Amino acid sequence: MLIVDNKESLSKIIEKHRSEGNKISLIPTMGNLHKGHQELFASAPDDTIKISSIYVNPLQFNNSDDYDYYPRALDDDLDVCKENHINIVYVPDGDISHEIEIEKSIDLPKFTRYLCGQTREDHFLGVYKIVKHLFETIKPHFACFGKKDYQQLLLIKYIAKTYFSNLEIIEVDTVRSNNIALSSRLKRLNNESLEKIKIIYDVLLNMRHQMIDGNEFADIKKDALIEIERYDIDVEYLEHRENETLELANGQLNNSSLFIAYTAGNIRLIDNIQI
Ligand code: PAF
Repeated sequence: MLIVDNKESLSKIIEKHRSEGNKISLIPTMGNLHKGHQELFASAPDDTIKISSIYVNPLQFNNSDDYDYYPRALDDDLDVCKENHINIVYVPDGDISHEIEIEKSIDLPKFTRYLCGQTREDHFLGVYKIVKHLFETIKPHFACFGKKDYQQLLLIKYIAKTYFSNLEIIEVDTVRSNNIALSSRLKRLNNESLEKIKIIYDVLLNMRHQMIDGNEFADIKKDALIEIERYDIDVEYLEHRENETLELANGQLNNSSLFIAYTAGNIRLIDNIQI
């Protein structure tokens, strides 16, 4: 496994692989790798050169504490990459924001303003910038992203469709442990909070059942919030939206999902389930 810390060396290595006729898969991460990331690694086609990036992108954090305290574990991450047959790990040395060349005015799709876009100012702009930059630098044939960050996944698909017509985005199911959708931020939760947030998935499943049985989302949401808040969890949003546009589903179950963002033990987390 090769570890590369700068764009120039990375481009050279990739160019060599391309000239030998190899296809390339990219798995971008912010490190602190867990089983969810391993599922992304496993989803990249085996006959490709697998490149993972590990970079905590400052442009996508709207809160400097969240950036400063974002869990970092590079040595362990490199072991995980090796065990998961990653060929090249790109670990930029320091902040690479200055390397990112981007069009003057960026018009993000409307769906980035909903859900997380309502409170995390410029988060999706930051994701857009780094992901487009990685796609431009690495020019992968495949790139893997998780459905846990569903709104991000839609944005990535928009970037691929708009600028990289030969790139296939591989969508990977959420990995759960004790019902909890895996996230690097879980590392910052104590055992008590970890115990409490197991309720989230139960509540979402229960809501789905009730909606399939004919109950209106608006009618069951109130009870769901009361149930969740009994566990000292603050809900930022709990919404029923359409899968492609993220517009409110307004009672339409086909092609829709439930989306939640919540804070437990001071840590903000998200989850979703398809109806
Ligand atoms: O999902 C993440 O870990 C990040 O948002 C990503 C896609 C690696 C961009 O920094």
